[in-house]
Amino acid sequence: MLAAVAHAQNPSDPLSCLELREVPTPVPPAGWTRIKVKASSMNMHDVWTLRGVGHDPKNIPIILGCDVAGVTDDGREVIIYPVIADPDAGNGDETLDPNRALLSEQHDGGFAEYIVVPDRCVIPKPHQLSFEEAACLPVTWSTAYRMLFTQGQLKAGDRVLVQGAGGGVASAAIALAAAAGATVYATSRTEEKRALALELGAHDAFESGARLPERVDLVIETVGEATWGHSLRCLRPGGAIVIAGTTSGTSPEADLGRIFYQQLRVLGSTGSTRHEMVAMLRMLATTGLRPRIDRVLPLERIHEGFAAMIAGETQGKIVITVS
Ligand SMILES: NC(=O)c1ccc[n+]([C@@H]2O[C@H](COP(=O)([O-])OP(=O)(O)OC[C@H]3O[C@@H](n4cnc5c(N)ncnc54)[C@H](OP(=O)(O)O)[C@@H]3O)[C@@H](O)[C@H]2O)c1
Repeated sequence: MLAAVAHAQNPSDPLSCLELREVPTPVPPAGWTRIKVKASSMNMHDVWTLRGVGHDPKNIPIILGCDVAGVTDDGREVIIYPVIADPDAGNGDETLDPNRALLSEQHDGGFAEYIVVPDRCVIPKPHQLSFEEAACLPVTWSTAYRMLFTQGQLKAGDRVLVQGAGGGVASAAIALAAAAGATVYATSRTEEKRALALELGAHDAFESGARLPERVDLVIETVGEATWGHSLRCLRPGGAIVIAGTTSGTSPEADLGRIFYQQLRVLGSTGSTRHEMVAMLRMLATTGLRPRIDRVLPLERIHEGFAAMIAGETQGKIVITVS
């Protein structure tokens, strides 16, 4: 079968390490399911793998792609829960399994004609979602769902600030929080992305670092160093900040005095459980929320898609389809 394989790692020229090549069609071991891939979307995670960041070189070569939807050998339309992990090893929460792995880290991913995954990773695709839409959801939308509703305990009527509206997790968080009845404030460095935030359901959008009309109950943080101080200052006493990423850097001034005096809660968040992903899918099916797709390309044009993503030319997800 045809697959997009990371065959090397290079920090300055990641795309030279990605090759479309013929590989053997996988045969599922006992307890695993084979899926004919219909659509698979791109993430910066794939680029970090090609650059050699956060990916063990001993797992190269590997097929990239961690957001996948397709059809099982017995004809079920499915979407893949992308974390291979054991809930028992995480006290009932697979995101806490110390040996958890995202698809394409230790196991071949979805930029290929077929993929095999553990049976528990197979989730029925809601009929309301196309394969292209479904393939945009497992990583960013499930992460945003856990940040808001599990870690952040968001309730209707709460006020939430989402930093860096242009990001994949941030834009999903804006849409989900607004649909859940929260008042949503968003920040972005550009006018264009502030307009996008309003389109997604934010009630108001501000330049990064601007004073908000009121303090908030919850901050959704994926930008990191550049916005951390602002996030802390925007919280009401007792409010919570949930952090899942640090795009602009990992070491801001901690401002510990503010944290203890205002009794703020700082919570990390990574990925989602299978259950949270199923709940997120139900929420999309019933609310009509949909991910924004920038473009759809065939597997043969995957390099073109990655080049656009690396250049920051995209507004929404790039989806790869496989015929
Ligand atoms: N924990 C998890 O499970 C998980 C899952 C997915 C992603 N992540 C992580 O979450 C982070 C966000 O990823 P993403 O793909 O959603 O978005 P992203 O494309 O990495 O960017 C997030 C946003 O940060 C803002 N930003 C970047 N540099 C900035 C700076 N110097 N100053 C101010 N704002 C800046 C930008 O917003 P504006 O342009 O709108 O200002 C950008 O859109 C990444 O670090 C990623 O690795 C974690």
